[in-house]
Order: sequence, then C-alpha cells, then structure tokens
Amino acid sequence: MAEPEQPEQPSTARMIDFWLGGAHHFPVDVAAARAFEEAYGPCAAIFRDLRDFLGRAVGAVAEAGIDGFLVFGAGLPTQGNVHEVATSATVLYTDVDPVTIRLGQRILAGSDRAGYGYGDATDIGTVDPAQLHRFVPGWGRRPVGVVFLGLAAFLDDETLARTLDELYDAVAPGSFLAFDFDSEELAGHPQALAMMGPQFRMRSPASFAPLLGRWVPTAEGIVPVARWRPRGAPAAVPDAFHGGLAGKPAG
Ligand SMILES: C[S@@+](CC[C@H](N)C(=O)[O-])C[C@H]1O[C@@H](n2cnc3c(N)ncnc32)[C@H](O)[C@@H]1O
Repeated sequence: MAEPEQPEQPSTARMIDFWLGGAHHFPVDVAAARAFEEAYGPCAAIFRDLRDFLGRAVGAVAEAGIDGFLVFGAGLPTQGNVHEVATSATVLYTDVDPVTIRLGQRILAGSDRAGYGYGDATDIGTVDPAQLHRFVPGWGRRPVGVVFLGLAAFLDDETLARTLDELYDAVAPGSFLAFDFDSEELAGHPQALAMMGPQFRMRSPASFAPLLGRWVPTAEGIVPVARWRPRGAPAAVPDAFHGGLAGKPAG
C-alpha cells in the first residue's frame, strides 16, 4: 500500500496519536498539538485518561458477552484502541478523514479481526455493508457495541440527537453505546477554545443527557471520564471530557 501523502491540515485524531506517544502523525499535527498546548497546557495525560476510559467502557461491553464493535470517528486504531482491548471481538473502525482512514488501513493490514473504512457517523448508510457484515456480524440482529467517542463536539444538538436515535433503531436490543463529549472546562482557556473553530461544541452533563434519547445510561450516569468505573484512584487530570456507557434494553 502506498505511503499516505503529507496532509496540509492537522487532524485531531493524529494530534491524539502524538499525545499518546504513537507513530502515526505528521509534522503538521505535531505543530498543531504544540500550539494547542501553548494555549491550554499539557494534554498527554488527559488523552491517556480518555483512552483508558475507552478501554474500561469497551472492556465492560466485551465482558457482557458482546463480540462485535462498530467505531465511529475512530482516529488511529492503536494505543489501546478497541480491538486491542476486546481481544476476542471483531471490530470495524470508521472515519471521514481520508488520510486517517489510509493510515488505519495500513495499521490493520493483515488483521482478520479488525478493518477500517469510510463512515459518516451521522449517516449509517455511508458504512460499506460488506465491511459492516464482515466485521460486525449479525448487525441489527445480534447485540453489538457502538463506540462514539471524540465526535460530539463536531455535531450540533439536532444532528447528534437524530444520529443517536437512528443508531438506537439500527442496533439489536442488548447493544451498548460508549459516548463522550467535551465539557465546559475548555471555556476557561479562551485562546485554546478559539483554536477549535466556531463549530466546536462544549456541553454540560445536563445538556447532553437529553440528546441520548432512548439510550439508557448505566448506573454511573454521565461523569468525568476519569471517574467512570476507575480502577483504583481516578487519574488526577482536568475534567475536560465527560462520558459513559448506555444500553438499548433487551426484550
Ligand atoms: C477528536 S478525533 C477522535 C478520534 C478517536 N475517536 C479518539 O478518541 O482518539 C475525531 C475524529 O472524528 C472524525 N470525524 C469528524 N466528523 C465525523 C463524522 N461526521 N463522522 C465520522 N467521523 C468524523 C475526525 O476525522 C477525527 O478522526
């Protein structure tokens, strides 16, 4: 497979890869990550904590017996991502960024358990049906895990609520949704907030909860990700992200 070309624009997913100590980012991503840290402060521990939350949430879904995952806005499939946590599951990663998709396909080349393709989270119809049925067998008939992390900030309330509602209808009862969103903590760093662009959305737990619609959060509710079923003492990081796990009740 050809080397992905050097992108002109940074990507938040590849900036996260840089902060996680990965190897799948470009100078433009490193420059953007460093500029953001100038305005905000150190980010590596925050994104490690967010990835650890992914691990605990996906691990909980796998422990519930689910062995197929569909990941939206997936970014790079490394550094403790879904197929590395749910080691018996099959996983389809999707994203809209062509450079990130090509990197993801290179990382997963040769895997028979995880694949990567285009998918606009706001339209399940954009996911290749052949890939969906290969990596998430029984989609719509068997319970699955849907991973919806790092996406809410890019979607307005109406689009986010509609998207989560359509996903609820699409999955079988017994399925789970791992979700997160950017908290209002970033408002305390106006220069960093300005870097995220005018469409960037922060939310409070109270304003996010209704957007889940029929999805039922687990008993933990919507909390700073460090405090979602922590293993030991929660990580001492700013509450930049809230999240949780929600289900579509069986039967
Ligand atoms: C902040 S990154 C998060 C990456 C990864 N989920 C993580 O937590 O490390 C957001 C990702 O969402 C992707 N994205 C943005 N809008 C999207 C959409 N409508 N559908 C699917 N992916 C989208 C971006 O290309 C980017 O890779």
